[in-house]
Formats: sequence, C-alpha cells, structure tokens
Amino acid sequence: MTQHAITPLFHHDLSACNTMALQCTADVAITLSHNEQISPAIAFAKQQGLPLMVLSGGSNVLLPKQLHAVVLLPNITGIDVIQDSDTDVIISVGAGENWHDFVATCLTKGWYGLENLALIPGLVGASPVQNIGAYGVQISDFLYALTATDLSTGEVCTFNNDECQFAYRDSLFKRLPSRYLISQVAFKLHKNPKHTKTDYGDLAETATQIAHDNARDSVTPQDVFDAVVRIRQSKLPDPNELANCGSFFQNPIISQDKFTALKAQYPDLPSYPVSDSEVKIPAGWLIDKAGLKGKGVFPILTHAKQALVLTNHARLTANQSDIKTAQTFIADTVHDKFGVTLVREPVWITETGGIGE
Ligand code: EPU
Repeated sequence: MTQHAITPLFHHDLSACNTMALQCTADVAITLSHNEQISPAIAFAKQQGLPLMVLSGGSNVLLPKQLHAVVLLPNITGIDVIQDSDTDVIISVGAGENWHDFVATCLTKGWYGLENLALIPGLVGASPVQNIGAYGVQISDFLYALTATDLSTGEVCTFNNDECQFAYRDSLFKRLPSRYLISQVAFKLHKNPKHTKTDYGDLAETATQIAHDNARDSVTPQDVFDAVVRIRQSKLPDPNELANCGSFFQNPIISQDKFTALKAQYPDLPSYPVSDSEVKIPAGWLIDKAGLKGKGVFPILTHAKQALVLTNHARLTANQSDIKTAQTFIADTVHDKFGVTLVREPVWITETGGIGE
C-alpha cells in the first residue's frame, strides 16, 4: 500500500463524529490525511455509485440514521507561514486542524485577531462554511484565501475572500453543499495586539476584569482569549457532557418598522444594527421571553443557560425527527408570540448526503 492510498471503511459508525450525538451509520467513510487522497476518493465514490459528502468536526450538522453516501473525513493538518511582514502574517492551515487549538497556537506565536473565536468546536476546514463568528468577529474578517477541490470535477480551486461570498453565518460553500472539499485555509493576522476587538458587550467587561486581575492597564489578546473561554464555558454546554450543536437558530434580521413595534411592546429587546432599514435581534432572547428556556420537547430541550442552544438529553437514542418536533414547537411558539420567523442554523443532512429542510 502506498502512503497515499485510501482506506474505505464500510458501514462506518459516525455517532462519535457529531456533537449532537445522533446515531448514524455511513455506507462508507474515508479519512483524508493527504491532498493526494482526494482524487482516489472521488473515483471510489463514482465506482460505488454513491454520492460524496464532507463531514468535518460534526458540530453544525444533524445526521440521519443511515447515510447512503461516501463520507469524506478531512484530516489534513499543518500550519505554515506563507508571508511574513512587520505588521502581519499570512498562514495556511490544514482543514483537519482543531479550531480552538489553532486559535491558541496563533496567540502563542503573536498572530492576533482570532482570539474572539476561542473555544468554538469543530475543525478549521468547516470554519468558512458557516462563516463562524462570536464576540464581534467572524472569520471573513481574517480569511485571506482557501483551497478546495470541486468534488463534481476533481478540479483544485482557490477562492479569495470575496469569492467565498461571505454573509452572516453563510458562504458560497453553505449554499453549495457537498460541492467542495476545503483542504487548506489561509488567514491574514495582525502582529500588533492593538487591533484586537475588545469592545463587544459582556466581553469588554470580562476582559477588563481579567486584565485588572493581572495588574494590566489595558486588555491584551490573551485577556480577550481568556474572557471568551470564561464566558463560553459559563453559558454554553460542553458537547462531551451535554450533546448540542451550538446556536440552533440564526439571529433573525427584521425590518426597522417591525423592530420599532416590538421594542414598544418589549423595551428590553436587545438589537444589533444591520442597515438603515433592518435590525438583527437575538433569537435566544425571543425563545427565553417565550418561556422556553430549559424547555422544548423531550429529549430535545433548550439549554438552561442559553436558550439559543438546543441540547440532546438522549445521546445516541434521539433522532432527526425528535429534533424536528422540538424545532417546530419552539419556532411556532416564538412566531405566535412575536410574529418573527426563526430559521435553523445547523445543516440537516438527508439519507443521501444532501441538504434537507
Ligand atoms: N439572551 C437571553 N436569553 C437567552 C440567551 C440570550 O435573554 O437565553 C439575550 C442575551 O442576554 C443577550 C442576547 O440575547 O442580550 C444575545 O445573547 P448572546 O450574547 O449569548 O449571543 P447570541 O446572539 O445568542 C451569538 C452567536 C453565538 C456566539 C454569541 C457571542 C448566532 C446564531 N449565535 O449568540 O454563536 O457565541 O453570539 O458572540 O449568531 C454558534 O453559532 O453556535 C454560537 C454559539
């Protein structure tokens, strides 16, 4: 066997590969540790007559019980500096690197910008797909370019930031599921710690406190990293302890008129400006105010400390239909109370590896 041969695993159990802990068996799974394995994997799927799909860290997907597809598990690693100047650095990162470990590495190297995105579960390769974001930063702020293979043709393509078509929790890759396998992501990061974003809501307060506790006058990127870790650990469940897939709904963007009407009725409704005519409001607040914090349809309940996160209290027993039942109940309750439609954030995978509603 050559170094780059593929090893198809038949009837492969993916239960440990999704943070919602849904039981799932794939017809075939193939771990990709080298770029040279991508073409043979595409050829193998064609020969088997099965569709291809990519599963990264599994922290934003809802899997079916049976997956009739060849599931590619990217495990390409490595962090390489490709351009270095006095002010910034461009680094290329393998899709299989763990996101949080990568963020921590950047901090120790003195490459700044991503510290607000500490502790987000998943792998680097999936980070552009939903344009991960937290505490005033999203990766589109720092993504320089990425390399992906078009699974329909086998062609290797490079996308710059614009070509990724980023939007709030969205990108070209989210809209064209299973089309591309992202293998390498390049980020342009600051060397000057002054650019770190420290002013976002409760982050500012916690980071300032941490700086103060360490006898520092101003907040450092390390303080921001520590503050994000502290806030996330206090609000968000660890998927290893309580199965979940992060925020379950997108924060809805509503018209200014609708917002004015809601704000008159609920003066404590938080909001984030989007444009002159639109406002983003937190889905977690709506769910909480609708009386659904810690509730749902058992075994799928909103988290007691952050109502936007749906948790699975029946690891490896609950299935997609339990999730749909809870999703519908929560979305309908919120709609009845506020007239606002909630849109699901994690991706629903069909039995053939496609994207479902
Ligand atoms: N809120 C409530 N009750 C709740 C939850 C939230 O009243 O149960 C209120 C909060 O008090 C706050 C507002 O809603 O005023 C927003 O809450 P939070 O700051 O916790 O953030 P979020 O809008 O609910 C978003 C991201 C998170 C990210 C945080 C922090 C989305 C869909 N979610 O959540 O991302 O960590 O901001 O920046 O945009 C994820 O995508 O998986 C995720 C966790």
